[in-house]
Amino acid sequence: MRKKVTIVGAGNVGATAAHWIAAKELADVVLIDVIEGVPQGKALDLLEAMPIEKRDVSILGTNDYADTANSDIVVITAGIARKPGMSRDDLLNTNFGIMSDVIGKAVAASPNAILIVVANPLDAMVQTAFKKSGFPRERVIGMAGVLDSARFRTFIAEELKVSVENVTAFVLGGHGDTMVPLSRYSTVAGIPITELIEPAKLKALEERTANGGAEIVKHLKTGSAYYAPSSATTEMVEAILKDKKKILPCAAYLEGEYGISGLYIGVPCKLGAKGIEQIIQIKLTPEEQAALNKSAAAVKELCTVIGVA
Ligand code: NAI
Ligand code: 2OP
Repeated sequence: MRKKVTIVGAGNVGATAAHWIAAKELADVVLIDVIEGVPQGKALDLLEAMPIEKRDVSILGTNDYADTANSDIVVITAGIARKPGMSRDDLLNTNFGIMSDVIGKAVAASPNAILIVVANPLDAMVQTAFKKSGFPRERVIGMAGVLDSARFRTFIAEELKVSVENVTAFVLGGHGDTMVPLSRYSTVAGIPITELIEPAKLKALEERTANGGAEIVKHLKTGSAYYAPSSATTEMVEAILKDKKKILPCAAYLEGEYGISGLYIGVPCKLGAKGIEQIIQIKLTPEEQAALNKSAAAVKELCTVIGVA
């Protein structure tokens, strides 16, 4: 039997994630939104591309959670996105209301699903999903680190004029201005980038990564990034559905790892059929640990405002 992935929110990120998932023939897709007609129209349009793409998947657009029943994965993109001048944190109260509404319905329909949260502010929204779903922490995961590290990889590859395939990069912490790109653990063909890029340039690339979302918003003006975010989400979906045991940076609920407890924050995780199967602990320098603690404090502040700390 084919796997089933529900995507809540048929906007830019949600519809493009449906596109990648269908194009890779990973699962049947249900696209659900509060707006009538939009998920139906986008899903049908995408479905009609499948004979050309030679992919046997069903893609259904709906406004009814009954259609999402027994999904293996539920991706939650529902929420408002940033406009120029807005930070991710400006989305907090509106998206908290939307997340609270969505979680109750999605979880009732798919009690055994793995939740991948995308809506911003990411770490506070995935913490909301965790608290409101009652699911174990393995089954509630936030998407941000795959995107942030892909941005860092892009900039490193451009700087060194090498294939993106040669570049690995790691970003820890919350999905915000306090994120922690880890140059020490980023490599080109196994060579640490600290050996290849001089410190001032590296710092500039790290800063560009931390501001990567705002850079796109500034260009688009009417919304935020969605191609790379939906691609990042799809990598996580694929790792879970294919039980790949892939190490990816994800927002995970920490219970003492990295000296942090009771909070979602971006750390390296092993993703497989059970969701987060392991949180990988790496040794941080005192400066890196301090930066991670600062990022966690920023996430905790948001979680406190909405009562999910
Ligand atoms: P969008 O505005 O294109 O789509 C959002 C969709 O959610 C809309 O179609 C809207 O009707 C729907 N929606 C609103 N309330 C809903 C509800 N209660 N139930 C179902 N659907 C509902 O926005 P876009 O660009 O797709 O972004 C979605 C979210 O993802 C935003 O919060 C954005 O900030 C976040 N995001 C997070 C990233 C990350 O790295 N974690 C990266 C990119 C975006
Ligand atoms: C991004 O990083 C807006 O969080 C979104 O592009």
